[in-house]
Amino acid sequence: MFAIATIAEEILDLKKRRRAILLAHHYQEPEIQELADVVGDSLELARKARDFSGDVIAFCGVWFMAETAKVLNPNRIVVVPDREASCSLVESCPVEPIREFRGKHPDHAIVSYINTSIEVKAESDILCTSRNAVKVVNSIPPEQPILFLPDRNLGNYVRKETGRENMQIWQGSCIVHATFPARKVAEARAEHPDAMVVAHPECPEPVLAMADFIGSTSAIIEWCAASDAPEFIVMTESGVNYSLARVAPHKRFYFVANENCNCSECPYMKLNTLEKLRDCLTSLEPRVELSEEIMRRALTPLERMLAVK
Ligand code: 13P
Ligand code: SF4
Repeated sequence: MFAIATIAEEILDLKKRRRAILLAHHYQEPEIQELADVVGDSLELARKARDFSGDVIAFCGVWFMAETAKVLNPNRIVVVPDREASCSLVESCPVEPIREFRGKHPDHAIVSYINTSIEVKAESDILCTSRNAVKVVNSIPPEQPILFLPDRNLGNYVRKETGRENMQIWQGSCIVHATFPARKVAEARAEHPDAMVVAHPECPEPVLAMADFIGSTSAIIEWCAASDAPEFIVMTESGVNYSLARVAPHKRFYFVANENCNCSECPYMKLNTLEKLRDCLTSLEPRVELSEEIMRRALTPLERMLAVK
């Protein structure tokens, strides 16, 4: 009798044979995070992708993150379990109006959130993630006008934190975070009066105004682990519960549903499944393929971001 390998065993075997690394964003399904070599936020995963010296990067996240990995480490094969794993922020920001803006406002620095297409990155002066957006904007001379894109909530948060007046903000939004209703956060606070509220900066301003801590996915996890508080209302995608439970098993975490789905899940992130991960490691498809030219142009703003301390 032959033992039937589980999908997880198949993936681990393929990973070895392909000399692959599995990078997973915090919003992936727990069974994917379980198998990953690294679980992290978009900045941490970009750094890990850049430093990898094997053959294949299996990027369990969304497509723009995998494109970033390819630009930072162009000699590796980069695959994603599902080609349709996009992001509403990427979709809210096509490249043509950005090129037009650049033509009309050559004096503006274009600061793009990493949640953008490779074409938009290539038009940008510097990139940022939710973890370093304030530092990135502060690294630009104060007299230089800025176009910040595409997330309006992150942009407003950065403007408030930096006091930067000469900053125009694109009006894109995340379908998960932008639809967290402040009313539901207030209800959760009334139900759990001792809980701290932690929020991702893509949340709307009235939600951020109730937060005790605002930060990227990994920053939220680190803050909750270090805090003395025993319970937290977590205003981001519920996939972070995997790491929260690991780093703070005795604390309680409450998630607030958004208006769209009565859940707090990113439908793009959740397109990736274990089966699709196994299949992409087998066929090495869907694979990120980018022209030399676009990679060269996108690398400059990415490297500028990574150089910001
Ligand atoms: P992080 O940079 O915090 O990982 O966020 C990425 C993202 O897509 C948030 O919705
Ligand atoms: Fe994009 Fe929002 Fe999903 Fe993050 S949670 S990948 S910003 S749609």
